[in-house]
Amino acid sequence: MFSVLPFVVALAFLDACFAVGTLKRVQPPSVRSLEGRSGLESIENGVVNWGNSSNSSTTAQNSAIVPVVLSDDGQTYYTVISVANISFRIGLDTGSADLWLISSACSTSECSKVPKYQLDYHSPTFVPVNNNQTAFNVSFADGTAANGFIALETVQVSNLTVAQQGFGAVTSSNITFDDDVSGILGLGFPRLSDISQSISSAPYFAQLAQRGQLDYPLFGLSLTQNTSGSLTLGAVDGSVVNNISLIEWNEVVPFAPFGSESNASSYLQWTIPLSGLSVNGTALTPIPTYPGATSNNSLALFDVGTSGIFGPYQDVSMRDTVLDTRAYHIP
Ligand SMILES: *[C@@H]1O[C@H](CO)[C@@H](O)[C@H](O)[C@H]1NC(C)=O
Ligand SMILES: *[C@@H]1O[C@H](CO)[C@@H](O)[C@H](O)[C@H]1NC(C)=O
Ligand SMILES: *[C@@H]1O[C@H](CO)[C@@H](O)[C@H](O)[C@H]1NC(C)=O
Ligand SMILES: *[C@@H]1O[C@H](CO)[C@@H](O)[C@H](O)[C@H]1NC(C)=O
Ligand SMILES: *[C@@H]1O[C@H](CO)[C@@H](O)[C@H](O)[C@H]1NC(C)=O
Ligand SMILES: *[C@@H]1O[C@H](CO)[C@@H](O)[C@H](O)[C@H]1NC(C)=O
Ligand SMILES: *[C@@H]1O[C@H](CO)[C@@H](O)[C@H](O)[C@H]1NC(C)=O
Ligand SMILES: *[C@@H]1O[C@H](CO)[C@@H](O)[C@H](O)[C@H]1NC(C)=O
Ligand SMILES: *[C@@H]1O[C@H](CO)[C@@H](O)[C@H](O)[C@H]1NC(C)=O
Ligand SMILES: *[C@@H]1O[C@H](CO)[C@@H](O)[C@H](O)[C@H]1NC(C)=O
Ligand SMILES: *[C@@H]1O[C@H](CO)[C@@H](O)[C@H](O)[C@H]1NC(C)=O
Ligand SMILES: *[C@@H]1O[C@H](CO)[C@@H](O)[C@H](O)[C@H]1NC(C)=O
Repeated sequence: MFSVLPFVVALAFLDACFAVGTLKRVQPPSVRSLEGRSGLESIENGVVNWGNSSNSSTTAQNSAIVPVVLSDDGQTYYTVISVANISFRIGLDTGSADLWLISSACSTSECSKVPKYQLDYHSPTFVPVNNNQTAFNVSFADGTAANGFIALETVQVSNLTVAQQGFGAVTSSNITFDDDVSGILGLGFPRLSDISQSISSAPYFAQLAQRGQLDYPLFGLSLTQNTSGSLTLGAVDGSVVNNISLIEWNEVVPFAPFGSESNASSYLQWTIPLSGLSVNGTALTPIPTYPGATSNNSLALFDVGTSGIFGPYQDVSMRDTVLDTRAYHIP
C-alpha cells in the first residue's frame, strides 16, 4: 500500500546526457492550477535554475501541462491526447517508447469496450506506411501483447503538435484497459521503440525535443491517487515543484553498446543506480543482479506503466531479516 507515489521529473538532454530528478521533500501541492505553470530559467551542465515563477507571463510558450488521472482499477495513469484531432484517453508509460491505439479493426474482447481509432474515418492527416503492412508488435512483462500495423498521424498533447507521428494501429490485443483508456503513450527512449527501429520515426516526446518544439527538453510527471496529477512537457509544473533546489538530479544509466562502438544512443531505460533501500526504518544494501560494464550497481527503473514496486528475490527477501513476519501475512 502506497500513500504517496513518487514524483518524477525526467530531464532529457538529447545530445549530451540525461538525468532523472525526484523530489527530496514533497510539499503537499496546493490547489492545482494549470495556469500557474512556470518556465525554467536555464539548464546548464545538468543544473536547472528556476525562473522567476511569480511572473506567470514569463511562462514558457513551448510547453504543455495536462491533468493525469489514475484509472479506477488503479493500474494506469492516463491523460488525454488528440490523434487526428480526436481526443483519446491514453495510458502513460515510461517503461516503453511507442504510441499505440486500439483501432476499429480490433475485435478481441479486450477491445470491445474502449473508444477506438476509427480506420474508416479516412482521417486527412493519416499517412500510410508500406501499405499498412509494417507490423507493430508490443508485449509487456505481464504476458499481455498487442499487434497491428504502423502508420503516421497528427498527435497533440495540449498545443504541442507532431504531424506524421509514428503510431501503432492495434488490430489484436489482450491488454485490458479500464475507464475508456484506448492505448499507451510510451515516454521511453528511441532505442526502446519498436516503431523507431522499424521506420526511423522517433517517439512523440523525442520528436518534440529534436524539432525544438520545447523550451526545455524535459518532461515531468506528478502522480497522485486521484485527479490532481499532471504531465508537463517542456517545463516543470510550478504548482508541484515550487523550488527547483528540491529536485535531486541523477544521471541516467547508459546501456552497452557505448559511444564509439555504435551510432545508437546508449540511453535505453529511465534507470538510475539504486544505492540503498530501507524497510520499516532499517537500511538495506541491494545486491546487484547483473555485473555492469562500468560498475556493479543495482539499478532502479522508473516505470510509470507498472502498478507496484518490484525487485529481485535476493533484495526483496531481505525484508524478512528486518520485519516481524508474524505481524502480517507475507505471501
Ligand atoms: C519576480 O517577478 C516579480 C514581478 O515581476 C517581482 O516583483 C519579483 O521581485 C521577482 N522576484 C525575484 C526573486 O526576482
Ligand atoms: C514578466 O516577464 C515578461 C518577460 O520578461 C515581462 O515583459 C513582463 O513585464 C513581466 N511581468 C511582470 C508583471 O513583471
Ligand atoms: C481540429 O478541430 C478544431 C476544433 O474542432 C478545428 O478548429 C481545427 O481546424 C481542427 N484541426 C484539424 C487539423 O483538423
Ligand atoms: C491503410 O489504412 C487506412 C486507414 O484504414 C486506409 O484508409 C487505407 O486504405 C489502407 N491502405 C491499404 C493499402 O490498405
Ligand atoms: C496475449 O497474447 C499473446 C499473443 O499475442 C500471447 O502470447 C499471450 O500469452 C497472451 N497473454 C494473455 C495473458 O492472454
Ligand atoms: C506482429 O503483428 C503482426 C501484425 O498484426 C502479426 O501478424 C504477427 O503475428 C505479430 N508477431 C508477433 C511475434 O506477435
Ligand atoms: C493553444 O494555442 C491557442 C492559439 O495559439 C491558444 O489560444 C490557446 O490558449 C492555447 N491553449 C493552451 C492550452 O495552451
Ligand atoms: C487526492 O489524494 C490525496 C492522497 O490520497 C489526498 O490527500 C487528497 O485530498 C486528494 N484530493 C482530492 C481532490 O481528492
Ligand atoms: C529553495 O530551496 C533551497 C534549498 O532548500 C533554499 O536554500 C532556497 O532558499 C529556496 N528558495 C526559495 C525561493 O524558497
Ligand atoms: C556510424 O555512422 C557513420 C556514418 O553514417 C558510418 O560510416 C559508420 O559506419 C557508423 N558506425 C557504426 C559503428 O555503425
Ligand atoms: C562486476 O562484478 C563482476 C563479477 O563479480 C566482475 O567480474 C567485474 O569486474 C565487476 N565490475 C566492476 C566494474 O567492478
Ligand atoms: C517495524 O518496527 C517497529 C519498531 O522497531 C516494530 O515494533 C514493528 O513490529 C516493525 N514492523 C514490522 C511489520 O515488522
